[in-house]
Amino acid sequence: MGYSEVYDRWKQDPEGFWMDAAKAIDWDRMPSKALFDENAPLYEWFSDGMVNTCWNAVDRHVEQGRGDQVAIIHDSPISGVTRRITYVNLRNRVAQLAGALRAKGVEKGDRVIIYMPMIPEALEAMLACARLGAIHSVVFGGFAASELAVRIDDCKPKAIIAASCGLEPGRVVHYKPLLDGALKHCDHQPDFCVIFQREQDVAQLVEGRDVNWHGFQYGVEPAECVPVEGNHPVYILYTSGTTGAPKGVVRHTGGHLVALNWTMKNIYNVDPGDVFWAASDVGWVVGHSYICYAPLIHGNTTIVFEGKPIGTPDAGTFWRVISEHKVRSFFTAPTAFRAIKREDPKGELIKKYDMSCLRALYLAGERADPDTIEWAQKVMQVPVYDHWWQTETGWTIAGNPAGIEPLPVKIGSPTVAMPGYDVQILDEAGHPVPAGELGAIAIKLPLPPGTLPTLWEAEDRFRKSYLDHFPGYYETGDAGMKDEDGYLWIMARTDDVINVAGHRLSTGAMEEVLAAHPDVAECAVVGVVDELKGHVPVGFVCLTKGVERTEGEIVKECVKMMRDRIGPVAAFKLAVVVDRLPKTRSGKILRATMAKIADNADFKMPATIEDPAILDEIRDALRTIGYAQ
Ligand code: COA
Ligand code: AMP
Repeated sequence: MGYSEVYDRWKQDPEGFWMDAAKAIDWDRMPSKALFDENAPLYEWFSDGMVNTCWNAVDRHVEQGRGDQVAIIHDSPISGVTRRITYVNLRNRVAQLAGALRAKGVEKGDRVIIYMPMIPEALEAMLACARLGAIHSVVFGGFAASELAVRIDDCKPKAIIAASCGLEPGRVVHYKPLLDGALKHCDHQPDFCVIFQREQDVAQLVEGRDVNWHGFQYGVEPAECVPVEGNHPVYILYTSGTTGAPKGVVRHTGGHLVALNWTMKNIYNVDPGDVFWAASDVGWVVGHSYICYAPLIHGNTTIVFEGKPIGTPDAGTFWRVISEHKVRSFFTAPTAFRAIKREDPKGELIKKYDMSCLRALYLAGERADPDTIEWAQKVMQVPVYDHWWQTETGWTIAGNPAGIEPLPVKIGSPTVAMPGYDVQILDEAGHPVPAGELGAIAIKLPLPPGTLPTLWEAEDRFRKSYLDHFPGYYETGDAGMKDEDGYLWIMARTDDVINVAGHRLSTGAMEEVLAAHPDVAECAVVGVVDELKGHVPVGFVCLTKGVERTEGEIVKECVKMMRDRIGPVAAFKLAVVVDRLPKTRSGKILRATMAKIADNADFKMPATIEDPAILDEIRDALRTIGYAQ
């Protein structure tokens, strides 16, 4: 069957399609049906099945004779370590950890925050929670203590599992002081914290609250897998929205298992036993779905890579990892390739490695620019597949179904909608527009299994953010078009979210930080084009009257505040002081126009602009930091 037949088969019989896909999962009780639509427009999948994620990702492979296969390869050029963990080892380690968590009172439904770098123990912590039916929430290491605190107060974890440190090139990130700092500001306190001590930094434990990862597992009874309902949350993952408060995307167990398993063959074209590598971070959705869960559920070997595309030690690291571990399908963000291309434009380093194992490169997380795709194709000599998805969906909305039938690549398009997604381009009134016309990208409800059913304890916000604007649809927040062949083209966000080096950030959250500076009266943050990171944030601040300190001092403080409050990952290094911000007559700041000026792009003078002369002031200010040239 080709792609069209598979897609049509889903469209004609979604229930049959997903019940068939569900057969690849080990259920303790098979669900009676796939879709539960009693509370439409809120939908759930496989709700009355009973199942365990950890069983499907680990134990069943041991039972089926894959025990000696390597499940996880930890490749850490930063610490100089390579470690392999087989499925049987993984099962034993996870069961022991889960046993220790249970002995300290963690049970089904309890939340556990995981704050760890790219080490196998991060995956083991996720799987141990899933084994017990506890709901994990992983927090990315590049966030500041206050971001961690917001997440702790929102999901109220019974336990926090953290490492003593993360390793960035040339710098040890001390996680423990960040965790202690976060807990000082939290209303909610966990019962206990588990600390995994790394040799690069042994953290001080707080007596009575912190336990040592190894010590607390000593002598405990390993835990078995606890079956949970198909609609029991396996995790919460916070992502950036329009405001400073992150959204807690909920993932239900049953749909997550079924959908992720389906993608491994049909999209990534790997078979059980093959090595699959997603170079991302466990703190992001790509890390949840494609470093941890999908490859393990499907019986693949996954790679936990603790390094960067360049500088650890050079721009050939990716090629070394691929050839050394025989990676068949490789997934990363375009920014990583832009970094490699900048260091090694002729692709000299790849010639040192035998890359014959590799079948395809998959790019996602941000727009893949044509230059980068063409360069990657030329250097790697394999198909390069762009695919489009979001934290909310957890897996590909539009991609190239390489395992069904590789479709011709149109550079700049992530190809076509996957089965489960009826993607429509809508005008402002919510009517589908003809092929080739721009509009808001929306997905006809219900979303497929594995996508978000709601936001953590915030159903109203879920409805407001995604369902209310276009009744009957899920609003993606992206704008773009569909061409005559049904290929999708993703052009821009329709909200205040920007994408910096494949990391999703909220300019609204950054504005809240700037506004907290005592000398800032008003501010705006916009994303401007950056050759390496895709976009970077630029802050515009108007000062309160009578401030006597220099603009330079204030800008420096703003940069520091952003690093302290959101974290280094915000990559906020540029800000300018301006007298006024351009606004519409109703007072709306013209952020998109400011971004266009920075990027030297054409723009239409907004008809409702209050005073067009302010745009010249913005242009002058941007020139002082190298933009709008
Ligand atoms: N823990 C702590 N700090 C982190 C971190 C982590 N897990 N990840 C990133 N940071 C820090 C970086 O050290 C950097 O700090 P600095 O300002 O002191 O230099 C800052 O956050 C910005 O990070 P990033 O934007 O990732 O840039 P970088 O300079 O570290 O790396 C590239 C640049 C080119 C390597 C980058 O483009 C890249 O590959 N990013 C990863 C893409 C990715 O995996 N995206 C996930 C979605 S698929
Ligand atoms: P995240 O939730 O961090 O995965 O970010 C999701 C957002 O990143 C999407 O809504 C898009 O704006 C952007 N994005 C992800 N993948 C792509 C892609 N392949 N092409 C264009 N934009 C993308």
